[in-house]
Amino acid sequence: MNGEVMISPLWTGLELIAPLQARVLGVMPRIVNGVSIDTRTLRMDDLYFAIRGEIHDGHAFVRNAFEAGAAAAVVDEAHVDAVKGFGPLYVVHDVLAAMERLGQAARKRMTGMVVAVTGSVGKTSTKEAMRGVFSAFGNTHVSAASYNNHWGVPLTLARMPLDTTVGVFEIGMNHANEIRPLVQMVRPHVAVITAIAPVHLENLGSIEAVADAKAEIFEGLEAGGVAIIPRDTPQYRRLDNWARQSRAGAFLTFGETEGADARLLGFEPAADGSVVTADIMGQRLRYRLGAPGRHLASNSLALLLAARAVGMDVVDAARELSHVTAPAGRGEQIRLVVGDGDITLIDESYNANPVSMRAALQLLAEAPPPAMFGRRIAMLGDMLELGPQEMMLHAELGAVIAKLPIDLVHTVGPRMANLHDALPIDKRGLHGAAVAEVLDQLMAQVAPGDVIMIKGSNGARMGAVVSALKQRYAAAPAQDLEG
Ligand SMILES: Nc1ncnc2c1ncn2[C@@H]1O[C@H](COP(=O)(O)OP(=O)(O)O)[C@@H](O)[C@H]1O
Ligand SMILES: [Mg+2]
Repeated sequence: MNGEVMISPLWTGLELIAPLQARVLGVMPRIVNGVSIDTRTLRMDDLYFAIRGEIHDGHAFVRNAFEAGAAAAVVDEAHVDAVKGFGPLYVVHDVLAAMERLGQAARKRMTGMVVAVTGSVGKTSTKEAMRGVFSAFGNTHVSAASYNNHWGVPLTLARMPLDTTVGVFEIGMNHANEIRPLVQMVRPHVAVITAIAPVHLENLGSIEAVADAKAEIFEGLEAGGVAIIPRDTPQYRRLDNWARQSRAGAFLTFGETEGADARLLGFEPAADGSVVTADIMGQRLRYRLGAPGRHLASNSLALLLAARAVGMDVVDAARELSHVTAPAGRGEQIRLVVGDGDITLIDESYNANPVSMRAALQLLAEAPPPAMFGRRIAMLGDMLELGPQEMMLHAELGAVIAKLPIDLVHTVGPRMANLHDALPIDKRGLHGAAVAEVLDQLMAQVAPGDVIMIKGSNGARMGAVVSALKQRYAAAPAQDLEG
């Protein structure tokens, strides 16, 4: 028609009524082409759900949604009077529940494969790597950002196009019993646990409880589905047990331990990634990984098992891994021009816990400095939500750093004060209670040839150091980045 390419809509206006259990006020839209809960990122023809968040109630932004081009809004019966007249409305009794039902309808109508990813660390890195790799296989639909919670998961489902070949869903949690209802909406064919680490111990109490909570992901598996389990964690048996109590039909492990179904045989760090040798269910592969670190190599093993499970050729999948790069704040490497030389920033500022911290320190230790006399420097902020053992979990890193070829460690935050005190004298750098307090001093520490790894929990705001450095110093020519 009109010579335009016909693209099937995400949802027709009519199709929405049954899953939303809505009454329509105004002229029902013919189609909606996306789903949004945030008017700042809403796009033309999106369906806007007026979700109540922790701070704002989405009903306050219904007018903005229509100004931004929303095709219709889903609103609560109780708020109808306040938002009537701005545009077409689907009126429901509970907006979040309506979005969950739409998500379930999207899941039910699709005929592709579904992968769910959880874990204490590595969820986003792994699902982003899957986005890249699975896109070479078919239409791939993946959670945005870290949309892994009670609204992120149903939102991602509701956005899933009918012709999706592989859907990849990140599922997260802070407490027990949070993954279960989410994975029951997702109904994956493949469930991946990337790693188990002492994260959210404040809520969960013990590492065993963490494993139990993560293992809820297996409860949502479709009959005969594939459970992908980390082999190197001491929690391995516990996870395997849970998987065997689920409807899973296959139990696959990955790691460095002998007997793992996907086993790391060799790891060679390279300037802009690594070269991995692995045995994937009896098939020996050697592939380039475009993102640095042994921990990401570990994630890639889980990815290759998942690729096989969704029907992708493992060799094709491994080839695609060379294009996978580390997302910002999760190991992205940035070259900046400082004085008459370069520095390398390793931006790990998005997240930190004892496991990812050790992985990042190892990564720094293996990173070649951009100049012969360059130093390896870590700038570390607090790791949050670690529970009563938090002081010890910070101090312990001192012994790790003592053994690594890392020259200097600056620390920020009250918890990191424990590490500062535990560091060998010759590696002990600056310490400040907050980033703002020491930012200028940290900036003054940077010298040509340095490689600097910046890491902390997102709440520790170490990203400010990365931003400040990027603002002060120009990016080095691109070929240095791409290699
Ligand atoms: N398997 C792993 N083991 C240790 N650290 C990891 C692993 N995978 C990723 N990381 C690191 O953990 C941090 C958080 O990664 P991310 O993928 O965002 O995890 P999540 O989405 O689970 O919070 C990053 O610094 C990343 O480099
Ligand atoms: Mg995440």
